[in-house]
Amino acid sequence: MCGIVACVGREDSLEIILDGLKKLEYRGYDSAGVAIFSDDKVKVVKTRGKIANLRKKVAEQPLSGNCGIGHTRWATHGSPSTLNAHPHQYEQVTIVHNGIIENYAKIKANLEEQGNKFVSETDSEILAHLVQANLLQGKTPVQSLQNSLALLEGTWAVALLIEEQPHKIWCALNQSPLVLGKGRNGTYASSDLTAVLPYTREMIFPEDGDICELSSDSIKIIDKDGNQAERAPQIIDWNPVVAEKAGFKHFMLKEIHEQPRSVTDTFRGKIDRENFTVKLPELDLDFSSIGNIYLVACGTSYYAALIGKFLIERLARIPVYTDIGSEFRYRQPLIKQGDLLVSISQSGETADTLAAVKEAQKRGAKAVSISNVLNSQIPRISQFQLYTHAGPEIGVASTKAFTAQITALLLFALKLAQNRGTLQRKFREELIQEILALPSLMHQVVSHASHLNVIARRYGNARDFLYIGRGINYPIALEGALKMKEISYIHAEGYPAGEMKHGPIALIEDGLPTVVIATKNDLYEKIVSNLVEVKSRGGQIIAIASQGDDQIGEIANDLFLLPPTHYLLEPLLTVLPMQLLAYYMAVHKGTDVDQPRNLAKSVTVE
Ligand code: M6R
Repeated sequence: MCGIVACVGREDSLEIILDGLKKLEYRGYDSAGVAIFSDDKVKVVKTRGKIANLRKKVAEQPLSGNCGIGHTRWATHGSPSTLNAHPHQYEQVTIVHNGIIENYAKIKANLEEQGNKFVSETDSEILAHLVQANLLQGKTPVQSLQNSLALLEGTWAVALLIEEQPHKIWCALNQSPLVLGKGRNGTYASSDLTAVLPYTREMIFPEDGDICELSSDSIKIIDKDGNQAERAPQIIDWNPVVAEKAGFKHFMLKEIHEQPRSVTDTFRGKIDRENFTVKLPELDLDFSSIGNIYLVACGTSYYAALIGKFLIERLARIPVYTDIGSEFRYRQPLIKQGDLLVSISQSGETADTLAAVKEAQKRGAKAVSISNVLNSQIPRISQFQLYTHAGPEIGVASTKAFTAQITALLLFALKLAQNRGTLQRKFREELIQEILALPSLMHQVVSHASHLNVIARRYGNARDFLYIGRGINYPIALEGALKMKEISYIHAEGYPAGEMKHGPIALIEDGLPTVVIATKNDLYEKIVSNLVEVKSRGGQIIAIASQGDDQIGEIANDLFLLPPTHYLLEPLLTVLPMQLLAYYMAVHKGTDVDQPRNLAKSVTVE
């Protein structure tokens, strides 16, 4: 999983590429490189580490020219090193690649037998050799790419320069993202449109198998059958400044604060405020004949799936199975024709979720994708698309995408319930009123962020955290623990509170911080009993409770109070202090909050 930026035009491309790569660092950041046509030669500069290192290196080895390609890498084949960094160059050909070439070892061995020498351990370098061999046989660049890619198994988005053909870039894709842009000063290619949004809003989404030829004022696309293809441009209305930090210290903090807006954007236009109904025209399904529903996702998106199960079963009374993406296809699932697989993926690229969708489709089920990235892989192969509108999420730790996913699942559950007649109008009306009021409550909660900062300071030396919740807030306990682990590197466990006495209570010892979600709902008395069990064994209680609760302050060591909302909407509020607590713990520890170690934003490998 890597990021690609390419551009050819009337301006110097180096700055455009470096700036674009910086925006794509969330895709991987262990090494980076750039190749620019300079005096009709392709010059490459690459280095280990982040884009800041690459900037330093190009300052020492100046480059300039109007046509170039760049790459930020997350290692899959070969260690993160300068030699393994892209671009890879072989004679006339220079390439950058995002994806995995599964059969590279065999091809590499064949090429080595023919005398080719490789300088990196990567799978990607073979493509430069294959294209070069075709060019030598007199093939055109498009034919050379077609012939070379036909030998490969796996996934790729590639951008390529050929030294004999200055001022042109060729790109190709297969199950890896690539977007093209056509602007006034040139044409662009990137793994994600945020990298080229400052230069154009006119985007083209090529299809798998397409080969694209970019010159300074045109984009030509040849489809997988070798025919010239027209791919209609789409105008993207995202503002480039939404992808900036807007004054916050980290993208994660900015994204936490954006949640009232992203939740609103996700339900915008989908609620009929007069009839208190939900409109989802994009889901043109026969809701009355759906068999079982499977919700499949990974990581934080899986916790959204657990909440989705709760909502769908409660509102629409249909059984729902939840599966982790990486498990689904290996357990011979019983999913069949008539069933529905709903995948949840912020990036729309997660390999395990993608494979689950394909498995379900193979078994005859239809697929709905809930995703945040327009035209990404999973929505593309799904029959139905329900987009969240969180905007670009740059922080590796998912925050606003999660609450947008819960919102989309809530709309989906309500739509199902509506069509199946499982809800009284009065109840629907009450719930929809509460949904409409929710963004302002979320705003109230995040505006008290500094209180979580104070609490985080108090537990600055903790080595472990326990999170407990019940009912619809149990997945929030899991999410709270995941957030703590991934950005502060502090060990944390999430449990359903009722499970404590079946084992985890043995962990409780003097001073262990335990975060308890104890909002005033039907399970309140039960969770207070669980909390007392922890407290009496020496645990330190951080309670997330409801405003007006006079009882809990006497037991808890620290308290964060939330405004009241409908029980089914509580996760959209209870998760906010979880995100903020993890954030401030990480800041106090001085970790790299937006790009935590060993992680990448999109996990496009199994
Ligand atoms: O893009 P996706 O929603 O499919 O990603 C799934 C997980 O990789 C992701 O949620 C991950 O767990 C995040 N780092 C959590 O903060």
